Amino acid sequence: MAAPIQTRGVHLPIAAGMPCERPAAAAAPVAVASRDLSAPERAGTNSPLPMQRWPEVSAGLAVTASAAGAHALFGARVAALAQIHSASTALSPPGASAGLYPGHDAHFNFDCFSNEPGLAATLDKLTQRGGAAIGVSGSIFDVAAAIEADLLVSVDQNPAVREVTLLLSAVLLLVDGKGSEHGWDAPRRAREVLHRLLPAALCDDPHATLDAAAAQLILDESATVAKELTEAGLLPTEQQQAATELLTSVAMKLLKSPQTLWCRGPGAPEKVAHLSRLARDGRIVAITTDLGAADLGPKLSSLLRERRAQATAFNLSNAFDYIADVSGVCQTLATLPRSADAVVVTSTTHLDFNLERGTQKDQLIQSLGSFQAPAASPADAWLQPGGLGAELHAAIWQAPRQRRALLGYVNHRTRVSDPETLEVFKDLVERGHERAGRTR
Ligand SMILES: C[S@@+](CC[C@H](N)C(=O)[O-])C[C@H]1O[C@@H](n2cnc3c(N)ncnc32)[C@H](O)[C@@H]1O
Repeated sequence: MAAPIQTRGVHLPIAAGMPCERPAAAAAPVAVASRDLSAPERAGTNSPLPMQRWPEVSAGLAVTASAAGAHALFGARVAALAQIHSASTALSPPGASAGLYPGHDAHFNFDCFSNEPGLAATLDKLTQRGGAAIGVSGSIFDVAAAIEADLLVSVDQNPAVREVTLLLSAVLLLVDGKGSEHGWDAPRRAREVLHRLLPAALCDDPHATLDAAAAQLILDESATVAKELTEAGLLPTEQQQAATELLTSVAMKLLKSPQTLWCRGPGAPEKVAHLSRLARDGRIVAITTDLGAADLGPKLSSLLRERRAQATAFNLSNAFDYIADVSGVCQTLATLPRSADAVVVTSTTHLDFNLERGTQKDQLIQSLGSFQAPAASPADAWLQPGGLGAELHAAIWQAPRQRRALLGYVNHRTRVSDPETLEVFKDLVERGHERAGRTR
């Protein structure tokens, strides 16, 4: 029997996060209840769901390779999942969630699936293949599948992204094992994955709403999937409750996400097959850290060297809406080995409004893309000295509205003073940390 690989759990809640803007016109053919699930504070008490947030207290998801020998069908898959867990834990520094975002509400502050209706069309045009897909949010799965990456590296400052990445890996491995047992083809496997993330009745009903019956169905089926994972050895029994809650949140997110994603819509069978291969080979790593963290570059470089991969796609989604030190992030990413044709995938929702009018603004907004049409630009254009990263950084620090917004995201306040420079901003954030530390 394989030696146990003990992985440390990930703890929620975190003291980090920032709101992820949802486009008003997000493609959501499935009608959902009028309340915005991204704003739990507005959810009120009449929610059909007892659980509206990520679990407040969770032991995290962990799996040990010791279970591998016990499950003939899933043995190798359990070992692969344990490898994914241990690599992810080893690379995520303890307490690394806060970064420059010591806000109090990390719940729903990220997307386990892309919320960009135009992402699939942008990714369809990519010609890059193989290498590492590195970046934020659940949309890293879409990017990794689109370029048939050899390695998927989730780097996100919100630990909930790591939790979900590990959970999705477990679901892929569960269906992969069952698919082998029953001889399922690729479309069937994709359907089986999707139906474990969102009950079939809700996937198939274009008029489904998140009413009490749907909520109950989601809760029940999430519990069933968690039990299945446990029976396969892909989830310890004591984590069934945490996984049920996470799966419930995943389903709620999926209900209002775009219809074309790695797990549904055209190409899903191939994408699920590719991601399942990555999971089976332990080629998924989820790191919780700030993209601006000083030690990220060396850490990621070692990972890429160890896995013999170069970065091919950086998925930044609309993170630049929230990042104060854009130059610092770009300089870090520039240190990573990357292929000559590497791309940076971006979008923005806030900067068009917040940046000051000027010659650079229009070019920057065009380079960033939007939720309807995210951009995939050559990495060189963003990461070279004096490139788009440096230009965006300068434009942000010339824009009082964006400077205030950045501080507001940190403080979770609307009325904030203008930090004027990055140094002042960092100092205010640091002092905010100290204040928060004193009052805890
Ligand atoms: C702004 S959200 C939006 C989600 C996105 N539109 C999508 O479709 O998935 C992007 C993600 O970037 C992450 N993020 C923002 N700033 C970050 C930073 N400095 N370091 C690491 N992750 C960051 C957030 O935690 C979040 O998960």
